[in-house]
Amino acid sequence: MQASSSAGNRPAPRPATGRLGVLTPGLGAVATTFIAGVESIRRGLSKPIGSLTQMATIRLGKRTDKRSPYIKEFVPLATLDDLVFGAWDPIPDDALTAARKAGVLQDKDLAPIADFLSAIKPMAAVFDQKYVSRLSGTNVKKGKSKRDLAEQLRQDIRDFKAKHKLDRIVMVWCASTEIYIKAGPQHATIEQFEKAMDRNDEAIAPSMLYAWAAIMEGVPFANGAPNLTVDTPALLQLAVSRGVPVSGKDFKTGQTWMKTVIAPGLKARMLGLEGWYSTNILGNRDGEVLDDPASFKTKEESKLSVLHTILQPELYPELYNGFSHVVRINYYPPRGDNKEGWDNIDIVGWMGYPMQIKVNFLCRDSILAAPIVLDLALFMDFAQRAGMKGIQEWLSFYFKSPMAAQGLQPEHDLFIQQTKLKNTLRHLMGEDQITHLGLEYYPS
Ligand SMILES: NC(=O)c1ccc[n+]([C@@H]2O[C@H](COP(=O)([O-])OP(=O)(O)OC[C@H]3O[C@@H](n4cnc5c(N)ncnc54)[C@H](O)[C@@H]3O)[C@@H](O)[C@H]2O)c1
Repeated sequence: MQASSSAGNRPAPRPATGRLGVLTPGLGAVATTFIAGVESIRRGLSKPIGSLTQMATIRLGKRTDKRSPYIKEFVPLATLDDLVFGAWDPIPDDALTAARKAGVLQDKDLAPIADFLSAIKPMAAVFDQKYVSRLSGTNVKKGKSKRDLAEQLRQDIRDFKAKHKLDRIVMVWCASTEIYIKAGPQHATIEQFEKAMDRNDEAIAPSMLYAWAAIMEGVPFANGAPNLTVDTPALLQLAVSRGVPVSGKDFKTGQTWMKTVIAPGLKARMLGLEGWYSTNILGNRDGEVLDDPASFKTKEESKLSVLHTILQPELYPELYNGFSHVVRINYYPPRGDNKEGWDNIDIVGWMGYPMQIKVNFLCRDSILAAPIVLDLALFMDFAQRAGMKGIQEWLSFYFKSPMAAQGLQPEHDLFIQQTKLKNTLRHLMGEDQITHLGLEYYPS
């Protein structure tokens, strides 16, 4: 593609040479659906529906230029054939067994790739039931201290890279939601964090050890769960100083994705909101973990933040002051991964007349999450080759609870997030930003 002025003197992103390892802590419903999907697509058996890196185009220049290449042709991304998968899980099931137990994909889709999936066996995990009380596992590392466990993860990363002759690796957290932890002095600086690892401080959760190990190995880290994990001053400082991109938190899939589509629509038309009640039922292992109040609190915090930042009651008090927002998740085993969500939205129109919107979303959680894992893996790898480090706010599009620089409000509106993502790609590739200015035929 032709480079132009907007990226200034920024060097062009390094090309995607060689193979890219994708490591996931967690080999459960989301991770196996992602891996099985990529392999099925590689064999020509499925289509990458839901993935921007595989299906979306990006408009470049003026509308009259008629330039809209696929993102994957515009940006040097790793191809699906370049990807090599690995995982850690306290449950020793290989990816085929884990996929069957997760019950997301049908046997007609798993059978043709059974050989491939059964060869993926999880490495021993850093796991502690204190942080995910509903799970127990046998495939767990032992170590003298949390630092020792994290060093073992670093060794796993190096061994995986050598064994598969990989050029680069990215890590995407697809493991269970841990209990709610607030950032404390242990997370304030990297020195305090490392001391806390040495003395086995409770504030250092397993997910933080994976994130630390990834950053130390120069591996970009994306967090698909709402855990604090990499969202602390200590690990962000480490990521910036080591030139590693990080992103999170919590994949934006079912109900929250819908919220970030509908709420901007209400606000765009200056319609008021009195209340938004969301409830859903799901019966997978994630639902079981979230049935524990400590894990649910982590998820609830993540889901509740969305509406306030989109609707900005401080700017629009007459429309949005004091609306009530309730989120419930109920574990209901018969549904498995096929979640059902109900939203009741009480809105207010002209002269204060009330109206209601009801949304009944019968979604498949992991089917929505899998393409997000793929896009994050490819974009995080690209970000590193483009010289980006620290929080990747342009990937907020994929997260329920996007990480933002200290003191800044995260962006939740899906459409602003999409513009930010595409404009960042344009910028990094030396193309002009698209402003959507309506003056094309009226030059001044
Ligand atoms: N499916 C979605 O739409 C969606 C959306 C947003 C976030 N998430 C999050 O993604 C994560 C994965 O979801 P899922 O449906 O695959 O859950 P899952 O329970 O099927 O899989 C999670 C796996 O992580 C493993 N695990 C737990 N602690 C671990 C550790 N310390 N190290 C390594 N592995 C560990 C578990 O044994 C399990 O196999 C959850 O945290 C979930 O909240 C999922």
